[in-house]
Amino acid sequence: MNFKTLFDLTGKNALVVGGAGGLGKLVAQAYAELGANVCIASRTESKLQAACEDLKAATGKEFKYYVMDAGKEDQVAAVAEKANADYGHIDILVNSQGVNKKFPALDFPMDQFDLVMHDDVASILMTCKHFGKYMKEHGYGKIINVTSVRGKIATKGPGNAAYCAAKGAVDMLTKQLASEFGPYGITVNAFGPNIMKTPMMTKIFEMRAKENGVTVEEYLKQQGAGLPMRRMSDPDDCVGTAVFLAAPASDFMTGNILYPDGGLTAIG
Ligand SMILES: NC(=O)c1ccc[n+]([C@@H]2O[C@H](COP(=O)([O-])OP(=O)(O)OC[C@H]3O[C@@H](n4cnc5c(N)ncnc54)[C@H](OP(=O)(O)O)[C@@H]3O)[C@@H](O)[C@H]2O)c1
Repeated sequence: MNFKTLFDLTGKNALVVGGAGGLGKLVAQAYAELGANVCIASRTESKLQAACEDLKAATGKEFKYYVMDAGKEDQVAAVAEKANADYGHIDILVNSQGVNKKFPALDFPMDQFDLVMHDDVASILMTCKHFGKYMKEHGYGKIINVTSVRGKIATKGPGNAAYCAAKGAVDMLTKQLASEFGPYGITVNAFGPNIMKTPMMTKIFEMRAKENGVTVEEYLKQQGAGLPMRRMSDPDDCVGTAVFLAAPASDFMTGNILYPDGGLTAIG
């Protein structure tokens, strides 16, 4: 075994769904810096264009993008066909898409619950289904789903009924897909971050900080104080895990959920 290539992504082709987002963009950058050809996909073309420009400036490499609503199966099937034709084969699929809608359970609007379940769970089945078909033909694939600590530990206060249910479902979906895809040479794993400062959380942090009469920075400091690592996560803290799950180092690992969470799930 050549241990020097355990984390080498040279020649691999990766698609990051949600790759213009706070976490997905960093994962796309890391994969490119480790040798992969990387493309990104999400719904908003202007954000994809801006992200590709930032990624090129950061790495010197070209990034393609695909406008795709991962919650619409016809779009997912079309992008799976196009990306596999453009790159020969997509080896690595990251599902970093998602939304979070917060309401107390007693008042949760069911259309918002359905929206979260569709965007955070059904979209993952759709991308895995359509990209998985090409990975099966190729005999190789690495799928990485982004879940959350909230798939494992509920929040103390109200608000997360949909998000917790969705991320718990992502965890079980990951295990079932691992079981079904393993014989085709495809690994399916997930990682679950703790809360991080990304566009998804900006408004929520502002709201919580206001409720507590502190600045966002002070609120995050307070949230981190009780963790073993004594600070909140940055999206950067998750990149190593995303690389591990995409790299040859994890080739015999499937159906696992890893937590780059500062220790929350150890004590939660
Ligand atoms: N931030 C946190 O504290 C935190 C903690 C734990 C887990 N996570 C998870 O980490 C992942 C990334 O979140 P983030 O923090 O990076 O949030 P973000 O900055 O809001 O990024 C989410 C990305 O997903 C895309 N997206 C949403 N729905 C989509 C759909 N139906 N089809 C295609 N793309 C879609 C969004 O782009 P468009 O809207 O343009 O499509 C956006 O680029 C999510 O799964 C989230 O649940 C985040």
